Amino acid sequence: MTSQDLKAPNCEALEPAARAVLTESAYNYYAGGAEDETTLRANRAAFSRFYLRPRVLVDVGEVDTSVEVLGERLSMPILLAPTAFQRLAHPEGEKASARAARAAGTLMVASTLSTTTVQDTAAAAPGPLWFQLYVYRQREITREMVQRAEAAGCTALCLTVTMPVQGNRERDNRTGFRLPPELEMANFSGLRQAGFPEGAPGSGLEAFIAREFDPTLTWSAVEWLRSITRLPIVLKGIVTPEDAALAVEHGADAVIVSNHGGRQLDCAEPTLLALPRVADAVGERIPVLMDGGIRRGTDVVKALALGARAVLVGRPALWGLAVGGQAGVEQVLEMLRGELRRTLALLGRPSIRALDAGAITEIQGLVLPPR
Ligand code: GLV
Repeated sequence: MTSQDLKAPNCEALEPAARAVLTESAYNYYAGGAEDETTLRANRAAFSRFYLRPRVLVDVGEVDTSVEVLGERLSMPILLAPTAFQRLAHPEGEKASARAARAAGTLMVASTLSTTTVQDTAAAAPGPLWFQLYVYRQREITREMVQRAEAAGCTALCLTVTMPVQGNRERDNRTGFRLPPELEMANFSGLRQAGFPEGAPGSGLEAFIAREFDPTLTWSAVEWLRSITRLPIVLKGIVTPEDAALAVEHGADAVIVSNHGGRQLDCAEPTLLALPRVADAVGERIPVLMDGGIRRGTDVVKALALGARAVLVGRPALWGLAVGGQAGVEQVLEMLRGELRRTLALLGRPSIRALDAGAITEIQGLVLPPR
């Protein structure tokens, strides 16, 4: 990481530096969304509908950002989202991200589509680690991955439910997205060909997903998963109160309000707008987390005030990883932590507990001139 990049004042500012070191295909894979990228942009834009309501003359000499998520005490309500193929960004890939999460006192959700096995990722940074998974046409692949994740010491499973088929990612079709020959989908080794199908036109990942992912999946898959593991199950990709109620009914231990970073169904509702309705439907029964568009400490506060227990960041961490490996991801987490602390102080809420619905208001139709 150059001293110039270290000076990036915020998460957004890291993206151009990351773009400069990534291949065109890797950059577009990480940055892109589905079709017109409406949801990708709306996830971010939704934050500008909400404004904060500071209380003044509150003692904010000590600010406590810690939270508890599924029995784990974390130093802040910011987790690393599962993102695929991290060794495309940096040779240390998933290991660097896991170490950065550990150093920051938070946790990473290791993607099934990793370029490092979950065992090696866990060994690189002992401590809490969640494993993200899909349910495949061949259930045995999922079963074996669950067993590997359990043996590696993962403390929760995060089932992504937004991918019956892959979203239409035109950037990846244009670049013919592939993994370079030295990288593989390490979690598949010994279970299935750990590379993409040969010779498919367009995105190799899309061809892989069409071959392996089960588009007939229903809620019984959650029950099946429950029957093969004792780990908490987190459902990632719940955006309606109807599905939130079903998630609780089917024994989910937490849900993540997520539209897969705008990479699946374009024009899906922005997650920040979906969040309060999901949180209402779930009540106090299980924690609700969210992802999609978090770039600032104020974004974290808005999500928490609207009902999230914690948030996950994906792309900013990838930019940090590309620019500086572990140090770059740590930088992203520390920038967000610093902004979060300052926001809580300026808002007169010295702890996460003190954040309530009164901390936020929605303003419709206020159009700001560009910066
Ligand atoms: C994988 O989950 C992806 O969105 O590419």
